[in-house]
Amino acid sequence: MLVYINGEIVPEKEAVVSVFDHGFLYGDGIYETMVAYEGVIFKLNEHLRRLYRSASLIGLTIPLKVDRLESALYETLSANVLKNAYVRLTVSRGPGPIGLNPDLCPQPTIAIMAQESKEYPELLYEKGVHLIISETKRNLKEAIDPRIKSMNFLNNILAKIEAIKRDAYEAIMLNAQDQLTEGTISNIFFVKDNVLCTPSVACGLLDGITRGTVIDLAIKENIQVKEGEFLKEDIYAANEVFITNTSLEVMPVSKVDEKTYPVGEITKRLHQAYKQEIKKSLSSRKKVP
Ligand code: PDD
Repeated sequence: MLVYINGEIVPEKEAVVSVFDHGFLYGDGIYETMVAYEGVIFKLNEHLRRLYRSASLIGLTIPLKVDRLESALYETLSANVLKNAYVRLTVSRGPGPIGLNPDLCPQPTIAIMAQESKEYPELLYEKGVHLIISETKRNLKEAIDPRIKSMNFLNNILAKIEAIKRDAYEAIMLNAQDQLTEGTISNIFFVKDNVLCTPSVACGLLDGITRGTVIDLAIKENIQVKEGEFLKEDIYAANEVFITNTSLEVMPVSKVDEKTYPVGEITKRLHQAYKQEIKKSLSSRKKVP
């Protein structure tokens, strides 16, 4: 694999970061995960907008203009001869002496990795995945705002460990008021009486790009959408449940804790509409040459 690091594309063994990088020392940095379909990075503008927002929320100045970053993403895909790929863009605070002060790090580290998209087994989409509601609560938004897509992932990892122990695919975290927030790497949706429900960003969660796309698609499909405050009892009472993220797209859920669900019609309809949206994007955007 060839990796972009600070302006150069080099073999992965040479793509190394200092042990003094504050990303390594303190988890001080931000990232985005994107997916390229047939050489086009889906919702690229939205991902880059969120990256610059995350940077601004941690007081980090990304030393590249957005069009330069966009070119770097496509150059990395080209160098690896990839068309259908998972792309990760990381910006850390950069190397500096030990100490929390961000001013110790004059030069952020920018890295881009791209690899062949992994195919999720079709069976998962046919049958759905199991979720748990974790004991681990989501970070208080007044402590670390989950809208910052940060490299500091321990909150999510602790919830993921619970999911692994309980043989579940994903864990849903509650906030301090016991309201549903999101998964460790995904947003949660459920359908109750034909209304599509999802926790509002104010509950303390990342406003996923896929979440936003699915909400827009649901509105276009005349499905009523409710963003609000929900408890775990609301999801237990739901007719359909699914999770979303950039690489999973729309993944049906067959079980939350002990409650089971069929793979529902609204879930299937929204996944189809999402795939159509990807197709539409292929004609209109910049591509890997
Ligand atoms: N994760 N919530 C959290 C905590 C996430 O980490 C993610 C994405 C999402 C969904 O966001 P989007 O639809 O923009 O992918 C929600 C990515 C996939 C990751 O960590 O690699």
